[in-house]
Amino acid sequence: MSSNQPSKPADGGPGGTSPRSPVHGARVLIGVTGGIAAYKTATLVSRLAQAGASVTVAMTDGAARFVTPLTFQALSGRPVYTSPWEHHEASDPQHIALAGACDLAVVAPCTMNCLANLATGRADDVVTLILSALDRTRTPVLLCPSMNAVMWAQPSTKRNVTQLRADGFELVGPDEGWQACRTVGVGRMAEPEAILLAIEARLRVSSRGT
Ligand SMILES: Cc1cc2nc3c(=O)[nH]c(=O)nc-3n(C[C@H](O)[C@H](O)[C@H](O)COP(=O)(O)O)c2cc1C
Repeated sequence: MSSNQPSKPADGGPGGTSPRSPVHGARVLIGVTGGIAAYKTATLVSRLAQAGASVTVAMTDGAARFVTPLTFQALSGRPVYTSPWEHHEASDPQHIALAGACDLAVVAPCTMNCLANLATGRADDVVTLILSALDRTRTPVLLCPSMNAVMWAQPSTKRNVTQLRADGFELVGPDEGWQACRTVGVGRMAEPEAILLAIEARLRVSSRGT
């Protein structure tokens, strides 16, 4: 019997996630910053939504130059935050409410600029502001750096990454490979499937209370 009705995937979604996956029902905040790899984050948001996560996207002004908020709104089925001054859902200040309402946060792509902002405690865009209000001892934050190989190799970036790890941020990638600047090197954002697996693994650790 054929049907035109939409159906849900039997395994709960792509990437091997199932209703028993910790991604299913998880509240995931995705921060998007202004890197060329922002288009890949659309795939990540779609995969998370298909796997049963509740996904909230926040974007810097730079990110919105690469992918429109509407793309992420359509894929997540939720409001997209593009300004520290917006107030879509809660009566609490937006950044406090969003930081308190997620089980895990990811920044993908995470620019050289965003790494520097986070390493020095700046909070002057919507992504870093939400993360500034997030308690990393309870809620993991995964950063997915994405930049040209020379930017990744800068002493300032290395210092910032060392500081961020010491401050409890976790990194996924970057990978080595083809870069948008038409060279091959280290700095390419991890693939959406790899980030999804890292999210799943980290949520599994959190659910064990570690
Ligand atoms: C075409 C283009 C591509 C860019 N790609 C990257 C990138 O992949 N990684 C990065 O760190 N910066 C990249 N930048 C620079 C950032 O967009 C810039 O540093 C910006 O201020 C980042 O702001 P944000 O971190 O608030 O989003 C790119 C800029 C342009 C114009």
